[in-house]
Amino acid sequence: MGAGRKYGAGSSVAPDFPTTRLLSQLALDDPEFETRIREALDRAEKWLQTSAHDALDPRVAALTGHLADAGGKRLRPLLVLLGAEFGDPWAHGVTQAAAIAELVHIASLYHDDVMDGATTRHGVPSVHARWGERAAVLGGDWLLARAAQLAAELGSAAVHLNAQAAGRLVAGQLRELTGPRPDEDPVTHYFHVAAGKTAALLAMSLGIGAVQAGASATAAAALTECGEQLGVAFQIADDLLDLRSPAELTGKERGKDLLAGVQSLPVLLARESGDPADAELRDLLAAGPVPAAAVPRALELFGHSSALTETEAVMHRRLDRARAALGGLPPLPARRALLALCDYVALRTS
Ligand code: FPP
Ligand code: MG
Repeated sequence: MGAGRKYGAGSSVAPDFPTTRLLSQLALDDPEFETRIREALDRAEKWLQTSAHDALDPRVAALTGHLADAGGKRLRPLLVLLGAEFGDPWAHGVTQAAAIAELVHIASLYHDDVMDGATTRHGVPSVHARWGERAAVLGGDWLLARAAQLAAELGSAAVHLNAQAAGRLVAGQLRELTGPRPDEDPVTHYFHVAAGKTAALLAMSLGIGAVQAGASATAAAALTECGEQLGVAFQIADDLLDLRSPAELTGKERGKDLLAGVQSLPVLLARESGDPADAELRDLLAAGPVPAAAVPRALELFGHSSALTETEAVMHRRLDRARAALGGLPPLPARRALLALCDYVALRTS
C-alpha cells in the first residue's frame, strides 16, 4: 500500500515518494544512473498527472486524477525506464510510455476496486466508494482511453503493445471471475490468471521502454520475458504476503484472501497436498471461504505446511527465469537494478 500522500497535477517525485524508497532498496550504487532514473521518473510523473487530470470539467478531473494523486510505487514506469536503458534512454516517447503503463495500471485499479468492493486504495477512499460504481467504471474507461491516446502519439508499436496489455489484463481478470473450466487444472488456471492480470503489464512496461528507446529486438524480447516471469513471481509474492505479513506492513488484513475464498497459489497447493500433515488445512480450505473464526488456525497451519514451501519454490523458479532472461543483455546498471528487483520481490514475502 502507498502512503496515501497527495500529489497534485504537475507535482514532481517527492523525496519520500514510495518509488524513491523502492529505488534506494535496489541498491543501484551508480549515482549517474540513479539521477537519470529519478529525473526521468519525475518527468513521467508530470505526464501522468497532466494526462490523468486534463478533463475539461474539474469534477471529472478530480475523479480521473484521484488514484494518480494517491501515490503508489510507480513500479511500471520504473520498468519502462529500465527497459529504455538498453537503447537510448533519452529517445522521444520514453517518458510518455512510462506514463502510459501507469495509466493502464490505474485504470485497472478503478475497475478492480469495483469488482472487489474495496473501499480503500493506496490509503485513500477508492473511487467507487467516493463517486459510486458507475462513475468509477467510466473513470477507468476514460484513463484507458487516455493511455490509448498517448500511445497513438507514439506510433503503431506503442499502440499495439498498449492494446495487447490492456486486452490481457481484462482477459486475466475475466478468467479469474469465471474460474477454471471443469476440465482445467486449477493450478494451470491460476498461472493463466496471474499472467494476464499481473505479468502482462510488467512485461509490456519493460518491452515498450526498450522499443521506444530503439533497443534491439533481441533485447526487447529478453526484457519482455523478464517482465513476464517477474510478474507471475510478483503475484505469488502477493499471495504469500496475505498469509504471512502483518497488516501494518501490507495495509491489508492478514488472511483477507482466505476469508474471501481467493484461490491463491498456496491455497490451491494446500488443497492438492498429499502430505498427511496438511489434512486439517485441506479440510479448512475445502469448503471455499474460510470462516473468520477459523482464519487464525488456517494461518497457523499454513506456517508449517508443505504448500507454503512449495509456493515459495515456485516463486523462486519464476524469479530464476526472470534473471535468466537477462543473461544475454549487456552488464548495464539497469540490468543490475532488474536483478535487484528480483531479489526485492523474493524479500517482500515476509
Ligand atoms: C489487482 O488484483 C488487479 C489487477 C492486477 C488487474 C485488474 C484488471 C481488471 C479489473 C481488468 C480491467 C483492466 C483495464 C485495463 C481497465 P487483486 O485484486 O488481486 O489485488 P489488490 O489486492 O491490489 O486489489
Ligand atoms: Mg483487488
